[in-house]
Amino acid sequence: MRFLRAVCFIAPLVAGVQVDRRGREVYHGYKVFRVLTDGDTADFEAQLESLSAIELSRNRGHIDTQHFDIAVPPESLDAFHALNYEAETLTEDLGADIALEGELEPFPGLETSVSGANANAKVAAAAALPSFSWFSAYHPYADHLTFLKSLQAAFPSNSELITAGTSFEGRAIQGIHLWGSGGKASKPAIYYHGNVHAREWITSMTVEYITYQLINNYNNDTAVKAVLDNYDFYILPIVNPDGFVYTQTTTRLWRKNRQTRSGTTGAPGDTPENTGIRTYGDKLGAGKGIKLYIDWHSYGQYILTPYGYSCSAKAPNQSRQDTLAKNVGAAIAQVHGTRFTTGQTCSTLYATAGGSNDYFTDVTPAELAWAIELRDTGTNGFTLPANQIIPSGEESWAGQKYLWANF
Ligand SMILES: *[C@@H]1O[C@H](CO)[C@@H](O)[C@H](O)[C@H]1NC(C)=O
Ligand SMILES: *[C@@H]1O[C@H](CO)[C@@H](O)[C@H](O)[C@H]1NC(C)=O
Ligand SMILES: [Zn+2]
Repeated sequence: MRFLRAVCFIAPLVAGVQVDRRGREVYHGYKVFRVLTDGDTADFEAQLESLSAIELSRNRGHIDTQHFDIAVPPESLDAFHALNYEAETLTEDLGADIALEGELEPFPGLETSVSGANANAKVAAAAALPSFSWFSAYHPYADHLTFLKSLQAAFPSNSELITAGTSFEGRAIQGIHLWGSGGKASKPAIYYHGNVHAREWITSMTVEYITYQLINNYNNDTAVKAVLDNYDFYILPIVNPDGFVYTQTTTRLWRKNRQTRSGTTGAPGDTPENTGIRTYGDKLGAGKGIKLYIDWHSYGQYILTPYGYSCSAKAPNQSRQDTLAKNVGAAIAQVHGTRFTTGQTCSTLYATAGGSNDYFTDVTPAELAWAIELRDTGTNGFTLPANQIIPSGEESWAGQKYLWANF
């Protein structure tokens, strides 16, 4: 099964793409550039295609920060330089960068299921939390599911595993629901999505870090107890499992899901994954309502408030949202000095159609509907070294704690 799948993935690769012995693309000799374009996006996008370059990120916000980050394959470097764009080199060798991410490490394999005498007990005994060493490496998809199960087993009376629909390739979109002393689903929701974009591995690790610390600190940190007693958390660390798996087996920089498309509509909910997480959000909205929604992305270090679709439209409580975002940024910076830029999506980053924070502002309203772009600002980009997982978790945790105490 595994083998057949690998064959299917390798077959469509174009000639010239190098793969390692496990069929994963390697990016030896690719250089990453930050290119300043003069607003002529369409022309630039056409050039990217002719160079077989990979678009990593773009910023179309303020005129003085507009840029594209792109990875250019070695055979196109001369052609790229001949175009004479104003460009800064971010990475000399993307292949070497990816090596710094480290190997995918299997889950330490704790047997956390309650067995024997405990299985018959009326109240399941809490297992120990999984080892914190989880956050020292990136991990295969299957191990993320085991990790979630282990978190649940460590907080058995205040959590359950949840599923928000099914991916294109048939994987359940899994997550965890945590609650406090009021009991299950008795409070407004805090709803987090990670890894909407497949290649943004730091997002699932960071969202899992926050989940871990919520459970770890519930009994001894009054602020954590307060937020869990006042809100129900619904946390989906990997909402694009097919794409995530594909980045691990084949194409590290894959962004989307794995649906074959003939002409995309771009409308919200046009993939099974979007439909699943949107429907789940609608259910939360119709229940106790949503206090906070965050769509976790990387990279760029931004905290983004609504709207994406328009640079002039104002969301409810816009100035309060923007002030909160700024203060969250300050709380983050206190931990390791990491600077996040904050502001409205459209004017800060680029105009987006069908963005999830717009949806959760207008359609199923969350009081705060944000997107956060995690580390870094381009040095390592999507392939953030594993030794930054814990610092990213620590600063994000501090930012969320500020937000929960002040929203
Ligand atoms: C609460 O206890 C956990 C587990 O022992 C520990 O890791 C954490 O630092 C403690 N938090 C506080 C605020 O003391
Ligand atoms: C605006 O913020 C206040 C708190 O300052 C809150 O009570 C209210 O629900 C918010 N309104 C909307 C539409 O989110
Ligand atoms: Zn993203």
